[in-house]
Amino acid sequence: MVVRESGEGFVRAIEERSTGDLPDGDVLVRVRYSSLNYKDALSATGNRGVTRRYPHTPGIDAAGEVVESSAPEFQPGDVVTVTGYDLGMNVPGGWGEIIRVPADWVVPLPEGLTPETSMAVGTAGLTAALSVLEVTNAGTTLDRGDVLVTGATGGVGSFAVAILAQAGFCVIAATGKPDANSFLMDLGATEVIGREDVDGDPARPMLSGRWAAVVDTVGGPILAAALKSVQPRGVVTCCGLVADPELHTTVYPFILRGIRLIGVDCAECPIEIRHDLWTMLAGGWRVDGLAGMYRTVALEDVDAEVGRMLEGKSRGRVVVKHRE
Ligand SMILES: NC(=O)c1ccc[n+]([C@@H]2O[C@H](COP(=O)([O-])OP(=O)(O)OC[C@H]3O[C@@H](n4cnc5c(N)ncnc54)[C@H](OP(=O)(O)O)[C@@H]3O)[C@@H](O)[C@H]2O)c1
Repeated sequence: MVVRESGEGFVRAIEERSTGDLPDGDVLVRVRYSSLNYKDALSATGNRGVTRRYPHTPGIDAAGEVVESSAPEFQPGDVVTVTGYDLGMNVPGGWGEIIRVPADWVVPLPEGLTPETSMAVGTAGLTAALSVLEVTNAGTTLDRGDVLVTGATGGVGSFAVAILAQAGFCVIAATGKPDANSFLMDLGATEVIGREDVDGDPARPMLSGRWAAVVDTVGGPILAAALKSVQPRGVVTCCGLVADPELHTTVYPFILRGIRLIGVDCAECPIEIRHDLWTMLAGGWRVDGLAGMYRTVALEDVDAEVGRMLEGKSRGRVVVKHRE
């Protein structure tokens, strides 16, 4: 799938290309499955904050088997995943049938996952897991109270709800979708609230401390309201910008309640942590209802999904399947 600049806009088409067009790297992977993340939707529509140069092939996630490797740790036939770093941003990504990447981007497929289910997890699931890890590492215990997840039906949000619920937390899922109740309750949410219910009175510098912790995936005014509503010494993780990349806040939540705002960056997450996250997501944090959290579409059908995601209408995860 190649995205090209055309006149005023960008067009996407499936084209035949040669492996010679790929950048240098240690490992050539035949991609079987990829996925759709918010970053892919931006890259696929010409966002130069994500992808500097076009023509370009998006796909920040890829799973498949090694075809060639100059790195001793990988052999032809090994089944692997590659997520993040510059894949799909400025290096041709998993929406192509073949990728070539540095060996230290490659992770052996964790036992318990298939190439398809690993892509159902993908960067969104890893980001949710990293966010939950930050929440628990900050000392949030089950007895502290409710944990809020914003953008709850999205890829990151839905995994965050499911992982937190399986870990025993009372999860309050905030969504803009009026019909998402059963989807979120099935993932383990204790309660579903509307996006607007997070806001409180925007004029007040502080709000009552409702949340033990917050996993925010949307940014903007919702994140600002979340900061004002966290209990003393609570923690808020921040990974996304779908609502707004700007954050207008004061120092009060930090100096009056000692709360912590923790940034989550999955793309450059160190490889050792990435290995640990995959092991957890395939083991103790494996989501019971994974089958209900994703749909698989052929690469040819990804266009409609890109539009839906940019309109904020996506629900769960979209796995992208290459032809046999
Ligand atoms: N930092 C990192 O490492 C990292 C990694 C992955 C993703 N991200 C970022 O995290 C964010 C979410 O990614 P994703 O893959 O989960 O995207 P997604 O599947 O499109 O989910 C985003 C969700 O946010 C909510 N939303 C959409 N528009 C909104 C608006 N205007 N105001 C408030 N909420 C809105 C919607 O959920 P509801 O309808 O349920 O509210 C939507 O389903 C993106 O900004 C992405 O770039 C960051």
